[in-house]
Amino acid sequence: MAKAAASVFSCPECGYSSGRWFGKCPGCGEFGTLVEETAPAAKKSAAPARPLLRLVDVEAEEAERISTGVPELDRVLGGGLVPASLVLVGGEPGVGKSTLLLMALRAMSAERKVLLVTGEESPAQVQLRAARLGGAESIQVLAETELEAVCATLERERPVVCVIDSVQTLYAAELGSAPGSVAQVREAAARLLRVAKENGVAIFLVGHVTKDGTVAGPRVLEHLVDCVLQFEGDRYHAHRVLRAAKNRFGSTNELGVFEMTGAGLVGVPDPSEVFGRTAGSEVGSAVACALEGTRPILLEIQALVAPTDLAMPRRVATGVDPKRLAMIVAVLGRHARVALGTADVFVNVAGGVRIDEPGADLAIALAIASAAKGIPTKERLAAFGEIGLTGRLRQAAQADRRLEECAKLGINTVITPAQTDTLAQAVKTALAQSVSPQQP
Ligand SMILES: Nc1ncnc2c1ncn2[C@@H]1O[C@H](COP(=O)(O)OP(=O)(O)OP(=O)(O)O)[C@@H](O)[C@H]1O
Ligand SMILES: [Mg+2]
Repeated sequence: MAKAAASVFSCPECGYSSGRWFGKCPGCGEFGTLVEETAPAAKKSAAPARPLLRLVDVEAEEAERISTGVPELDRVLGGGLVPASLVLVGGEPGVGKSTLLLMALRAMSAERKVLLVTGEESPAQVQLRAARLGGAESIQVLAETELEAVCATLERERPVVCVIDSVQTLYAAELGSAPGSVAQVREAAARLLRVAKENGVAIFLVGHVTKDGTVAGPRVLEHLVDCVLQFEGDRYHAHRVLRAAKNRFGSTNELGVFEMTGAGLVGVPDPSEVFGRTAGSEVGSAVACALEGTRPILLEIQALVAPTDLAMPRRVATGVDPKRLAMIVAVLGRHARVALGTADVFVNVAGGVRIDEPGADLAIALAIASAAKGIPTKERLAAFGEIGLTGRLRQAAQADRRLEECAKLGINTVITPAQTDTLAQAVKTALAQSVSPQQP
């Protein structure tokens, strides 16, 4: 009896595969992600072996990068757009992805052939936005969602830069699944990748992420593309932060800061002035000097400590890793005599920015200590340093650059691990003792 072709069920999110279907993927725990694939029949390959190449004989010259005309975007890309690369720009709905890329296209269209493929908005809507941004006559627009047609147009027109807004709307008829499904999105990215490399088109793919970051979200594309940029920021705040999550041509630590205005996104070359409150201080606020890539930036950290009746007091972090917050609260209690066992602790980074860097630990601890004791931190004070579990402070990277940034903004007291040994000492130095303490 002939054996039926074997099916495997595999998860596109994590790569798990199995001979039977599961509603919940045993690999990554996601629901409904397993899709059926026919296992390729094992047969002997007929391809001949290929000659090898010594790396030393490979001739390569670094292609000149294309300036996007948006300095903050250039910075995050690592000094401009690399020709024939594929860049994924992810972000929540309404954060300003279309606006950012339209601005870049507009600047590049002066000297280069650029194309905007819009599947989400009509050309008229794009025109209205372009008019709001100051006109963009020479951008060519294609309103199309069929993948085959988009690829054929790119092959014929060969623009230098193309924006696909968004990859979730592209649709390959032969796949049969709905637009935006994992299979469609992957197929679209793989085909566009080939078109980009073969025809020398640099492509920006716009991808939506849902709040939970899943469901055909652009995460499945991250392996395929050259760069992944994340556009973040609260829709209700004017500031937006662009950062690279992956970059094959540059550092992933760079940060671009924008302000959303009626006339589009305006780059903020000096974010410290916006996010760091360097003048008088309030109870529960401290300024951190964090380092994002090559750029030191002053950020205001706010904390609120409120008595609670809950058996498990709340630790709520916005812009800070919750695990890091729990650790800082524990170290404060154990080594700096700031007991928070019966209080809710809320921490927020002003302006909707997120910090991942351990160098911001100290300022977070100082903001919480200030809130808990009801004493403001001293005026014109900033802090940086990593907190160890023993209550000792550890040096943070590139201290000189941070000190320079503080000096530039007129901050005269900087608490650093170089002069201050422990967290308890830092708390003592930072809190202005002259103000009579209020009970929280
Ligand atoms: N007239 C205006 N004045 C100020 N800001 C505006 C104006 N019009 C739009 N915006 C801002 O632009 C944002 C929408 O930008 P954009 O369409 O580029 O976002 P998007 O990320 O592409 O969204 P989507 O996911 O819906 O495609 C709005 O959330 C708003 O903040
Ligand atoms: Mg859009």
